[in-house]
Amino acid sequence: MKFFLDSAHVHEIAHALDMWHIDGVTTNPRHVQASGKPFLTVIREIAQLVEGTPKTVSVEVNPYLNDWQEMVAEGERLSAISPNFVIKLHCSEAAFKAIPILASKDINVNVTLIFSAVQALQAMRVGALYVSPFVGWKEANAEETISFVEDLVAIRDNYGFDTEILVAAVRNGRQIADAAVAGANIVTAGFSVYQEAFDHPYTRDGLAKFQGFWDQSQYE
Ligand code: E4P
Repeated sequence: MKFFLDSAHVHEIAHALDMWHIDGVTTNPRHVQASGKPFLTVIREIAQLVEGTPKTVSVEVNPYLNDWQEMVAEGERLSAISPNFVIKLHCSEAAFKAIPILASKDINVNVTLIFSAVQALQAMRVGALYVSPFVGWKEANAEETISFVEDLVAIRDNYGFDTEILVAAVRNGRQIADAAVAGANIVTAGFSVYQEAFDHPYTRDGLAKFQGFWDQSQYE
C-alpha cells in the first residue's frame, strides 16, 4: 500500500518524504494556488525533491484543456521537465484518446475526477497508470464509498489491468484503512490528514501513564 502526499507545499513534501517515507506526490490546481508560486516553478521544485528516486509526482494539466492534441502536447512538455512526472488528466473523452498516445511515448497518466466504476474501467482499458476515485467528495455528498472502491479493485483484478487504484480526496484515517482493506494500491491525502491519522488520543494517554511510572534514577 503506497501513501502519496496531496500537496504543492515544498516544506510539507520534504517533511513527508523524510519522516513518513511517502511514495509519491499528487498536486492539483488548488494546491498550486495555495503554494503561492507559478505552476512551472512549483512543479520544478517538487521534482527536485524526488529526483533520482522512483517516486512519482502527479502534475495536473490546465483544467480548461478539452482537446486530446493539447493534452498530448502538454503531457510531452511537462514530462520533459522530470521523468518522475505522471500527467494528471481529468476524466474525459479527450483524455481517453490521449492516454494511449502518451503511453506510446513512455508518458504515464493519472486519470483524475473519477466518480463511477465505469469511468475507472474505461481509464484502465486505455492504459492509465493511475485512476483517482475521489472518495471524500462522494462522502461529502452522503454517498457510500467502500463498495465503490471494492468495485474498482474487482474490475482491476478480473481483467489483470496494470492500472493502480489511487484513492483520492481522503479526509481521515478511517478512509485510508478502508482503502487498504478494499485492496487499493495507493491513497493520497493532505498533510494534516496523515498527521491526525498517525495520532490517537489513547496513545497519548497511555504515554502519559507510562511517563508517570518512569524513574530515571532507577535506570541502572
Ligand atoms: C487527488 O489527486 C486530488 O488532488 C485531491 O485528492 C482532490 O481532492 P481535494 O483537493 O478536495 O482534497
